[in-house]
Amino acid sequence: MHPNKLPKSIRFISFVQIRVAFDGVPWAFIDMAISREISDIDNRFYKAADPFFAAHPDQALTYDDVTLATLYSDILPRDTQLDTTLADGLDLNIPVISADMDTVTESRMAIAMALNGALGLIHYNMEERQQLSEVSRVKNHVHGLIQEPIKVSPDQLIGDVLKMVEERKFEFRTFPVVDDSGKLLGLLPGHVVKQRYAKRKVVESLTPRDQIQTIRKKEIAKDPITRADKFFTDHPGIHKLLVVDDDDKLHGLFTMSDVERITQEKKAQFKPARDSKFRLVCGAAVSATRNMFGELDRDLIVAHVGALVERGVDVVAVSTAHGFSKGVGETVKMIRDAFPKLPIIAGNVTSAAGVEFLADAGANAIKVGQGPGSICTTRVVAGVGIPQLTALYVTAQAAASKRVSIIADGGITKSGDIVKALTLSQAVICGGMFAGCPEAPGQIMEINGKRYKQYRGMGSLAAMKAGSAARYGHSTTTPAKVAPEGVEALKEATGSVDVILTQLIGGIQSGMGYLGAANLAQLRQKARFIRVSPAGIREAGTHDIVEVKTGRVETGQ
Ligand code: XMP
Repeated sequence: MHPNKLPKSIRFISFVQIRVAFDGVPWAFIDMAISREISDIDNRFYKAADPFFAAHPDQALTYDDVTLATLYSDILPRDTQLDTTLADGLDLNIPVISADMDTVTESRMAIAMALNGALGLIHYNMEERQQLSEVSRVKNHVHGLIQEPIKVSPDQLIGDVLKMVEERKFEFRTFPVVDDSGKLLGLLPGHVVKQRYAKRKVVESLTPRDQIQTIRKKEIAKDPITRADKFFTDHPGIHKLLVVDDDDKLHGLFTMSDVERITQEKKAQFKPARDSKFRLVCGAAVSATRNMFGELDRDLIVAHVGALVERGVDVVAVSTAHGFSKGVGETVKMIRDAFPKLPIIAGNVTSAAGVEFLADAGANAIKVGQGPGSICTTRVVAGVGIPQLTALYVTAQAAASKRVSIIADGGITKSGDIVKALTLSQAVICGGMFAGCPEAPGQIMEINGKRYKQYRGMGSLAAMKAGSAARYGHSTTTPAKVAPEGVEALKEATGSVDVILTQLIGGIQSGMGYLGAANLAQLRQKARFIRVSPAGIREAGTHDIVEVKTGRVETGQ
């Protein structure tokens, strides 16, 4: 067969793949087929990662220093796949993570991220108890069948139920009422869970069993969601469906809103990121906590992670400014020994040795980035850190040989940066991109008619005082005595996480379309880089016009 008659997608695949696909075809012939598509002239200028970075060993590069060459494509952006595996048991549908920062990720952000197929890492600048409840809120957010619904007992006071709702930050107030053996006695409706009825007992206020619609467990066995969906259609006005066994013991509940959302999800291109029990995925940061003698507090660290695991956390992140350090290595090892199967993210590093060290300690995914963040001053204050693209290339080499993944953390200001980051890593972490969203913690403030939200570095004085000093290797009791490595800032208030992620995903998919990459593995394999001059950077942005409408959608960048 003449090479031109090969399907275009085959003509463009790599040399190695062709060897597999066309075993038996003479090599010279195949070589000719390739050279028609990847021209020698292009190759001299637009280089694959290895020759490109080898040609720049003495200059650290970051996103704006390079651009990616377009390649032959038969892939439409909308057909590209963005799923990524960060560890065994940790798969995301889009390769974006919200930063474990106290002005970025708590449960609301983590829920929004997971619903979009991404991941949120809940920060640790809060009491352990609060962090656990934040994780619970994510894990309980949407269920097909809620197998262990929160129940109340007939003798409880309404006041106690209210207290539980507030402490555990439930967004619902209707609860099944069961006796000691788990038998259904009725339903406590949300409209009676009010302060004015605080002194009443649940039994005085419930809707009795004979007035509640239920469904038998065996009836839903085959296709629970379709069955529940039909039930809600057949029973207008009923929003909760309780599932019971033959002895009338409670076995779970469906809510109409969950069922509707799940039915809609079936149509979305990027499905929510869920665990094997269909709960949203959620990560949480932990620190290398030390006791009063300055030693790592093993019991505290392991108990903290154990409690997170009990709540269903999918991954813990040992988040520090200097991951290639004894304390971080020992903390990762402690967690790995105690929880052999738990996915662990650890960092931050910018060297191959740093990746090897954390991988050997037991980490599955390594955060790469020292000083690129929008609120970071590490490079200014400490004089250390590596521009992000070179750091990613160097660390990616070690990650490949250790079979761990790397995550590009910080410095992302536009979707094009993410495309470049993903040519060398498995996912990106963004802080500033999401800090202006309504889902980020904190209130909107208005200054001169513009709306802002607070965004601060975890190494800023205020954040360290609130608890993050350990992340920067300082004592939590005397943070005022140390040099901060981050600033307190404002971000313009932006649209929701859905809006921001839609823009970012659109950009990533465009980039992949230009490179003919159907998935992230192909993006990493196909990317061709070239340096950009300062004039080239100017040329890349809009220029010589009066911009009347920004092309960006409310990202606040
Ligand atoms: P972006 O650029 O997305 O960066 O806003 C978020 C990442 O920055 C890191 N981070 C810090 N780095 N001093 C630093 O040097 C700080 O105070 C600080 N706070 C956060 C962190 O890796 C985050 O994901």
